[in-house]
Amino acid sequence: MPEFAARAHQSTLPKTVNEAIQESKIPLAKFDVVAFTQGPGLVGSLLVGTSFAKSLAYALDSSLIAVNHMRAHVLANFIEPPFPTFPFICLTVSGGHTQLVLVRDYLCMELLGETKDDAVGEAFDKIGKWLGFPYPGGPNIDTYAQHGDPTRFQFPETNVTDLDFSFSGIKTAFRYSLARECEKHDQFMIKYRNDLCASIQATLVNMLCDKLKLAIDRTGVHTIAIAGGVAANTYLRHKLHLLASEVHGKLYVPKQSYCVDNAAMIAMAAYHQYLANDLAYWESMVRPRLPLSVG
Ligand code: KG4
Ligand code: ZN
Repeated sequence: MPEFAARAHQSTLPKTVNEAIQESKIPLAKFDVVAFTQGPGLVGSLLVGTSFAKSLAYALDSSLIAVNHMRAHVLANFIEPPFPTFPFICLTVSGGHTQLVLVRDYLCMELLGETKDDAVGEAFDKIGKWLGFPYPGGPNIDTYAQHGDPTRFQFPETNVTDLDFSFSGIKTAFRYSLARECEKHDQFMIKYRNDLCASIQATLVNMLCDKLKLAIDRTGVHTIAIAGGVAANTYLRHKLHLLASEVHGKLYVPKQSYCVDNAAMIAMAAYHQYLANDLAYWESMVRPRLPLSVG
């Protein structure tokens, strides 16, 4: 898969960038900065993007900006109003990451907690696969759960210390309990698919909301924002609205196309780095494990 992703980047990037430039109706010569994702991510895809950006910047005689993908997810909240006010806590939930971030300013972010193993989106996708859904399983679980009973099945929530998360235990518990029940009744999965989706979704969402509540209590910050593909989840949005009103806070949710991976969020991060004169060099390298603390 990592090699497949890198090859897909290589074959689609020139055409995609070309189309975006044409759609923008801005002449190429007017672009004075080219921004690229430095990390974190899959090394092959990062190398393709970085090399492409350097070539384009060289051809245009423009500057380069290296962007942190996780910071960019947070800054997706500033693409379209209403914008959150600083400081706020951002829950970033994607297929690769689960993070709680204290955002003091556009470029000043502190990691409060993150997953110690699987990302929540990864848990949704694996569980979706065992329930017979195509990849990614998250949206299907969301849809089927809307017709199910979230209290029908109980799954053990894993609690790690402080503001960190862990999703691998619940994923395994789900797998074994599903296999056990399917062995007992062969129609089990078909009969209870909606309830299984609703129950596992409620458990995963509760795990996220419990830690977010703890982060709010610890920091005293009541403004909440959300980012990443899992932000599309209907039940998560519902629970976050309840949590925000419970703590007398405010919730900000970017539109779905800005929650999933997108280039606008990279441009938004680059814009603020440009204002702070944070430019990259020709020697800048990809950083597959780039931490959130590095801007
Ligand atoms: O941020 P994203 O587009 O890509 C990265 O992983 O960086 O997130 C993709 C993830 C997948 O795991 C997908 O299952 C999940 O977002 N997702 C959802 C929903 N829509 C997308 N998970 C739960 N409910 C959804 N409605
Ligand atoms: Zn992402």
